[in-house]
Amino acid sequence: MTDSHDQREFFASAAGGTEEVVRDELSDLGFRRVRLNRGGIPFFGDWEEGWRACLQSRTAQRIMVVMARFAAPGPEALYEGVRQIDWSPFISPDLTLAVSAFLHASTITHSGFAALRVKDAIVDQLRDQGGRRPDVSREDPDVRVFLYLAQDRATVYLDLSGEALFRRGYRSGAGEAPLKETLAAVILRLAGWDGETPLVDPMCGSGTLAIEAALWAGNIAPGLFRERFGFERWASFDSSAAQALAQLKGELRARAHGQHPSISAMDADGAVLEQAKTNARQAGVRIRFRQAEVRDLRPDGGAARLLVVNPPYGQRLDADNRLYQEMATAFGRLSGWRLAILAGSPLIARTMAFKPTRRFELRNGDLPCDLLVYDVP
Ligand SMILES: C[S@@+](CC[C@H](N)C(=O)[O-])C[C@H]1O[C@@H](n2cnc3c(N)ncnc32)[C@H](O)[C@@H]1O
Repeated sequence: MTDSHDQREFFASAAGGTEEVVRDELSDLGFRRVRLNRGGIPFFGDWEEGWRACLQSRTAQRIMVVMARFAAPGPEALYEGVRQIDWSPFISPDLTLAVSAFLHASTITHSGFAALRVKDAIVDQLRDQGGRRPDVSREDPDVRVFLYLAQDRATVYLDLSGEALFRRGYRSGAGEAPLKETLAAVILRLAGWDGETPLVDPMCGSGTLAIEAALWAGNIAPGLFRERFGFERWASFDSSAAQALAQLKGELRARAHGQHPSISAMDADGAVLEQAKTNARQAGVRIRFRQAEVRDLRPDGGAARLLVVNPPYGQRLDADNRLYQEMATAFGRLSGWRLAILAGSPLIARTMAFKPTRRFELRNGDLPCDLLVYDVP
């Protein structure tokens, strides 16, 4: 690898509405010079800090490194700026490349065209150096480059993650509308979970919320399940880098204690529950699964709990109405509990008998959602 003591500027990309959560998480994890930005969180460190963010962040979508910033008032300036970057430590003619671009208020207005100029600049540089050029792969590129062009200022990023970080690697199957693992971790943080209060998900589907909770409480780094990250495919990722990564993973494994409070997860659908059990087994966490209807949920006389739930949305209106009524009745019995409901429909808040103490605007894929947090009187 390039000198591992280089100080680099990294960028943890965050889904809309989750920036503060990602910032707080990175600060809690001890990353330096963490700042709040729209769309993501900059932080600084050597290369290993970038690897560590890939391994430890539960909430970021991707970890990228800033390669350059320059004025790009037109296609030529963009091409030249990208050619100035030394790409040889990252990509060789035997590796594949993908470039994507996001543009805002700039002279170049077509993102596909901008991405093409960036790609041309990279492959031309490598061809001039060695006579051969890398190919483009859309499906599974070895190296991913992002261009952000706003007000004619270009920022060029190189992605460390590879596949997006929500693909933890422990989930082999899912029900109809699984949550992204990163969103599940965001929900747990926004709900104010302390990692000690017993937790219940009465409509758990493939078990994402419950599994993410168990990993978090057990201090198990989510990236330890990943087969590999994007940076492991870079040209300069040699055997000494692989050794350093193995050592970092070993340190994180040693810090995982695997202890967590009681976590229960229910679902009415027995088949999806089997899938959730398999996922939990693959993640190595112990969750109490039970097939049950949400209307049968009762406080069991024990201490107050956190209930987190991602109810279905968008079935027939009358079916939704009936289900939300059942939820409101069952949840109304949970005196002293905190509830965090990811509501994809305004009907849910309307049906509840009391008002949320907090409300956060999130997106579940393309669907705008409210995370409603209640403290049941
Ligand atoms: C949106 S999915 C939850 C997805 C889950 N968060 C995941 O990541 O896979 C909603 C779940 O509610 C379950 N469900 C629907 N009606 C239910 C009911 N009356 N009682 C319990 N579970 C129910 C469905 O079987 C489905 O798995």
